[in-house]
Amino acid sequence: MEFDPSALQAVGFVSVESRWNANRRASEALPLFKCYKGKIGDREATLIAALRTKLQQQVDRGDSVKDYKVASMFRVWYNLRKTEGKITSNMSFRGPTILVFLGFLSCVHADLKLGFYDDSCPKAEKLILDFVEEHIPNAPTVAASLLRMHFHDCFVRGCDGSVLINSTGTNQAEKAATPNQTLRGFDFIDRLKSVVEEECPGVVSCADILALATRDAVGVIGGPIWRVPTGRRDGLISNSSEALSEIPAPTSNLSSLQTSFANKGLNDADLVLLSGAHTIGVAHCESFSDRLYNFTGNGDQDPSLDGFYATNLKNNKCRDATDETTLVEMDPGSFRTFDVEYYRNLLKRRGLFESDAALTTDAAAKAAIVNLVDSPPQTFFAGFAMSMEKMGSIGVKTGSSGEIRRNCAVINS
Ligand code: HEM
Repeated sequence: MEFDPSALQAVGFVSVESRWNANRRASEALPLFKCYKGKIGDREATLIAALRTKLQQQVDRGDSVKDYKVASMFRVWYNLRKTEGKITSNMSFRGPTILVFLGFLSCVHADLKLGFYDDSCPKAEKLILDFVEEHIPNAPTVAASLLRMHFHDCFVRGCDGSVLINSTGTNQAEKAATPNQTLRGFDFIDRLKSVVEEECPGVVSCADILALATRDAVGVIGGPIWRVPTGRRDGLISNSSEALSEIPAPTSNLSSLQTSFANKGLNDADLVLLSGAHTIGVAHCESFSDRLYNFTGNGDQDPSLDGFYATNLKNNKCRDATDETTLVEMDPGSFRTFDVEYYRNLLKRRGLFESDAALTTDAAAKAAIVNLVDSPPQTFFAGFAMSMEKMGSIGVKTGSSGEIRRNCAVINS
């Protein structure tokens, strides 16, 4: 495949900053498709042709590129093209990432498909996007909450909405597990579900709503967006002990993180990229206070944590070892902005959790991080988008398995 990044740079494609920049005049975006040179597969050619036609229609009407799917697919496609070379040469530290990328381009999710609800509930995705666009600007921290919730959902019994279920008298659900006790945003998903149910009762799964809302919320705060093929069905089982064993702990070392991710079909590159989610959001002191006060059981501090940062945390945030309430920005100074500062902090030994710090304990992982920091932000965005799409398809239930829950917090009776 040949590609001419300089031509793309020359026209300044919308993807460089945020999804909102996709709202530029379609006429600005259209020339990008002319930059593509060389051989491409039938599937990709069809996609590009369809996007061009759609953009051309928008140009003819004098519209902005507002169509969400077009803008989103267009951006992912562009990002992949633009970063392909860098990521393949520097980021793959276990096996050839190029295969992942090529797989992504022709992305066939055996069971999920883009626009699964196009016939059964054509307005579903738009309703979700509208709701997110309306509410996330007033509550931007919910984007981080949803992103973490989606991760916790996918790592336990696949992305099947099992994290959303309430405990009952006879069942301790995932929500009750320690890592999930700090999840927020359940009410946001419940409200979204009500909106979608009003339009199409019993059609759209809670698992899909969570996956779509997460993507849209991250997009709204200026982060990357990714494709979310749909058709997930909701699980019937939610078990707190499974959540405890499947969700990686913040005290994990690199090999335990690698194993945990590999068990879900995610490789080392995915681990580095998805950990970049910690560029947004907050953590409770108790998630890392051992590093400050009791690292080896002798009242000591984790020597791998930058001393200046540790002192600052102790003096200004987590003032004692038992603090359970104070929240700390995981990416201080830009915890609401999706950027590469999280990785820059890791290189300064300022990752908040041992699991963050662990990423710099391996030469290849560290090289991948250095590459992300040294590259334009879209390298991180494109890689993150790719890994999120992979994460979103972990263990999905489709066809007739599971159910479409009427209330996300309760299994249908
Ligand atoms: C690699 C293993 C990971 C570990 C050990 C880990 C652990 C944690 C912990 C302990 C917190 C803070 C919880 C609290 O104290 O309130 C947190 C927050 C967060 N995590 Fe992770 N995480 C990991 C990977 C991920 C991934 C893959 C994602 C998403 C793709 C993610 C997204 C987030 C977000 C967005 C927050 C902030 C949540 C908020 O502000 O409400 N994490 N993580």
